[in-house]
Amino acid sequence: MGPAEADRITAHSGGQLRMNRRTFVGASIVVGGAVAADPLVAGCGAPEGNQGSGEPNTVRLRINGQAHEVTVDSRTSLLDMLRERVGLTGTKKGCDQGACGACTILVDGQRVVSCLTLAVMHDGAEITTIEGLARPGALHPLQQAFIDEDAFQCGYCTPGQIVSGVGCINEGHAGSPAETREWMSGNICRCGAYTNITTAIANTAKGA
Ligand code: FES
Ligand code: FES
Repeated sequence: MGPAEADRITAHSGGQLRMNRRTFVGASIVVGGAVAADPLVAGCGAPEGNQGSGEPNTVRLRINGQAHEVTVDSRTSLLDMLRERVGLTGTKKGCDQGACGACTILVDGQRVVSCLTLAVMHDGAEITTIEGLARPGALHPLQQAFIDEDAFQCGYCTPGQIVSGVGCINEGHAGSPAETREWMSGNICRCGAYTNITTAIANTAKGA
């Protein structure tokens, strides 16, 4: 590490260590990993102030019909932005690896597992979460069908199942139980409420 590099890494401003991602990685390599790795390993759900040296980005989007402007670290997932920054905790974090579907939302009408995409990639997008499906005084028909058909047990997967089910119906992929099961296969329910979920989607699709 040259003197200039060392100066950049140790420069302080108002008590805050100033280090961008590149200089941090470079410093970590030089000292054989002895530098504390907190800024890089901090979870995406950690408060913004603890998310290290990623560049802040302002994302403007519409969420459930309302305009939002959110400044996020470049590494923040869309799921964490919704839950931690916007306060919409209806969308659930199951695996955080794209395997369970609990975090499914609609982005510009398309089903997306929000744990696998970065918030900064969706500037200008139209987002619909489970909180945005009902209308004043009336649940979305699929929400009502889930109740009528007893389509959930613990309910943790339910927001993702319902949002995914809405997408499945809108796509025209709910024509038969087999088709519905295929196109809903990314949404896992550990309680095994699949039969009732399929029935709820079929009933809603018939009325759609
Ligand atoms: Fe996103 Fe499981 S939390 S797929
Ligand atoms: Fe429990 Fe789906 S209702 S995981």
